[in-house]
Amino acid sequence: MTTLLHLDASARSRSISRELSAAFAAAWLAENRDGIHVFRDLAAHPVPFIDEVWTELCDAVLAQGSTDPARLAELVRTPAQAAAWRIIEPLLAEVLAADVILIGTPMYNYSIPAALKAWLDQLTFPRMSLGHRRFVVATARGGAYSPGSPKAAFDYQERYLRDFFAGHFAVQDTVFITAELANARQDPALAHLRDQHDASYTRALETARRLAKEY
Ligand SMILES: Cc1cc2nc3c(=O)[nH]c(=O)nc-3n(C[C@H](O)[C@H](O)[C@H](O)COP(=O)(O)O)c2cc1C
Repeated sequence: MTTLLHLDASARSRSISRELSAAFAAAWLAENRDGIHVFRDLAAHPVPFIDEVWTELCDAVLAQGSTDPARLAELVRTPAQAAAWRIIEPLLAEVLAADVILIGTPMYNYSIPAALKAWLDQLTFPRMSLGHRRFVVATARGGAYSPGSPKAAFDYQERYLRDFFAGHFAVQDTVFITAELANARQDPALAHLRDQHDASYTRALETARRLAKEY
């Protein structure tokens, strides 16, 4: 049985990245009729920021040289650490049980929303390979950052996630589905870019539906 873990991080309930991730999930479920779809809304139900107790667990992982995330519970020593573990455990269990991890995320301030970063911080421990899982990221951004565009170097959203998943999780083939120039929907000064946005959005939706059949 294949499992899709589907996360959304947009502060908007009606959002482009949510539409893209939903399109992927719907096409994936049509293709994988026995598949399990687990959904977590990181904006509506944010996970807390890590705190000092969390860092105690992280330090214990480093000190013990632990490499198996499924055995982190064995490092819990205090009631406060047990409370921290109750936050981490379900997040980690969802990721470990998933074959495909689908993340819908906007670009905020050239990067990812704090809600998504908080999730990553909670579940990421040293030497944690997720190499057998596949990551798909459905993104939306107000401007344009594709290669060759003047602001390409400011894209700390895709670059960060790609590098982090490769560098820390040993996931080499993260796929990005991106709708650009979304601000053309709201900003009259960008009205002349509306057609470009519409084309980017339509392409991204098609890509989401097509790619899902391969996962
Ligand atoms: C807090 C905030 C910060 C944003 N920062 C950027 C940015 O740095 N670059 C950009 O191109 N668009 C930025 N945008 C525009 C969003 O990326 C755009 O609205 C996108 O559609 C959001 O995705 P969503 O529709 O899934 O919510 C920002 C929007 C918000 C609300």
